[in-house]
Amino acid sequence: TAVAIFAVLGYLLGSVPFAVVTSRVMGLADPRTYGSGNPGATNVLRTGNKKAAILTLLGDAAKGWLAVWLAHQITGHSDVVAITALAVFLGHLFPVFLKFKGGKGVATALGVLLAIEPLLGLATMLSWLVIAVFFRMSSFAAIASALFAPFYYFILSGVLWPLSGSILTAISLISLMLIWRHKANISRILNGTEPKIGKKTDH
Ligand code: G3P
Repeated sequence: TAVAIFAVLGYLLGSVPFAVVTSRVMGLADPRTYGSGNPGATNVLRTGNKKAAILTLLGDAAKGWLAVWLAHQITGHSDVVAITALAVFLGHLFPVFLKFKGGKGVATALGVLLAIEPLLGLATMLSWLVIAVFFRMSSFAAIASALFAPFYYFILSGVLWPLSGSILTAISLISLMLIWRHKANISRILNGTEPKIGKKTDH
């Protein structure tokens, strides 16, 4: 039953769309109506409002972190942690509050990784930053970092923490879904039309 409770709790928490909530509270346009149409921090940044983008990033990361942290603190069981990680991520992708049309999961995945192991989250975040600085594309940095994350977990397991097969599986599935959610971005990256970070849209 703990698994079921945390799966539902994680899903509901993940369903809270901070891009839409923050934009509404701050009187900005709904992020689903401009730019990539994605309810995420990167797209909110296209309004030029950095504060709104940062709040979106923090909110979406915090919900991922909170769900996994609670599962870990309360149950201490890696299978429950793994299911909760998947549930909160899926909540962000398919939120019950937005007719199941959610975001791509980058910020939420970061929160999840930070809660699983802070160093894993930091390593993945640092990868995102370095790639983002070099290529100036949020999506490309996210896709590449998602590819690294399961390897970081695997490599650091045994050295810094014990390996959990269920957590490795959850991280791998999250990475695969995150990349799949970026399929439109991948086409744009390949044909050279993916917008660079900092470029505003007209809306
Ligand atoms: O936040 C998700 C990011 O990786 C891509 O977002 O709006 O450029 O499709 P966007």
